[in-house]
Amino acid sequence: MLHPPSLDERADALKSALIRAFHVSPADVRVAVSPYRICPLGAHVDHQLGIVTGLALNQAIVMAFAPSPETHRKEVAALSKNYPGQVRFELDSIPPFRPGDWGNYLRGAALALRDQFGKRLGRGMVAMVDGDLPIGGLSSSAAVGVAYLLALEAVNGLSVSIAENIHFDRAIENGYIGLRNGILDQSVILAANHDQLLSLDCQSESWHTVRGPEAGSFQVLVVYSGFEQALVSTGYNQRVAECREAARQLLTAAGRRVTNGAVLRQVSEETFVKHGPTLPVTLRKRATHFFTEQARVRDGAEAWARANVKQFGGLVVHSGKSSVENYECGSPPLITLYELLVGSPGVLGARFSGAGFRGNCIALVEPGQAEAVAVAVAEGYARRHPAEAKHFSACVCETDNGARLI
Ligand code: GLA
Repeated sequence: MLHPPSLDERADALKSALIRAFHVSPADVRVAVSPYRICPLGAHVDHQLGIVTGLALNQAIVMAFAPSPETHRKEVAALSKNYPGQVRFELDSIPPFRPGDWGNYLRGAALALRDQFGKRLGRGMVAMVDGDLPIGGLSSSAAVGVAYLLALEAVNGLSVSIAENIHFDRAIENGYIGLRNGILDQSVILAANHDQLLSLDCQSESWHTVRGPEAGSFQVLVVYSGFEQALVSTGYNQRVAECREAARQLLTAAGRRVTNGAVLRQVSEETFVKHGPTLPVTLRKRATHFFTEQARVRDGAEAWARANVKQFGGLVVHSGKSSVENYECGSPPLITLYELLVGSPGVLGARFSGAGFRGNCIALVEPGQAEAVAVAVAEGYARRHPAEAKHFSACVCETDNGARLI
């Protein structure tokens, strides 16, 4: 079981490391905390402009930063506790995307802000960044992107709303990185409210939080499969294209004018019921996932508001099943973890966290049961995936607020 140090301890360690590495004055150092997120219901529907839910965790990307020294005003320089090498560039000439380089999110953040603010983004920064949970499904990418945005905005005195930051982070992922994802990740990371479920409509880009079960009525268990891969090189973009093609064919069948970039949210449920059976099997499965997941999100928000964690958890299990059977996005280790979690006593609900190709699964667990569930799952996983199980880990989390400077 992972027992990461507290956010305050990590912030203090990073501040000291930043001061040592870049010789900045302690008075100039600030810290950005950008939480990992989970999406209990609403998987793989954000890019189709559906409705989704999310919670932020009390585990986060933490980053200490300070304005660049006067002698190098426009320089951005960063070190990571997780990756080797230093990222360094000038705001006037931000280098292009480099496959596999951890500096992409920082360069992408600077570019998104530079495109919007031009010369008002005139001050660089030095930064030291650290992520503590293993990568995959918890939106470490969006979390680190948000941390860079908040830090660059702070050193430049720019006042930016949550909605604007959602768009800037989207520019990093869709524009600079080339992943065709939606706005789930950064919205939850930016707008989450401790203990409340974030409900986000990706079409209107509006959100609200829903009060639900009392604090302590469940724990979030994050289990890591040991299986890692960059999302951009998985089947993620292909699934998005299949959803769009399903939308195009359904709209055409219904006699609707189809413009470029059709999405399933444009298709009514009646149209899906009437014309869905005529779709090729793969596209029918993708559309089935979309429409059933939307119903689960609506039912789940109601169950949450009634503090019915059991019903909510049951919907999460069905969401996971539809991800496997209809969206077909799991990899064998992740599917095993999902099955082991669902079969463990004390688990209220479980599913892949995020896209499901790699990384982590999450479970909502009855209070006090998380450690026992983690032990049982670790044993079963080691029997079925001995190679990946060497890197298995589990972490018990609580919910938290969205990204902030502390
Ligand atoms: C990843 C993407 C999100 C979303 C989820 C699946 O986390 O970045 O936009 O599509 O997968 O729900």
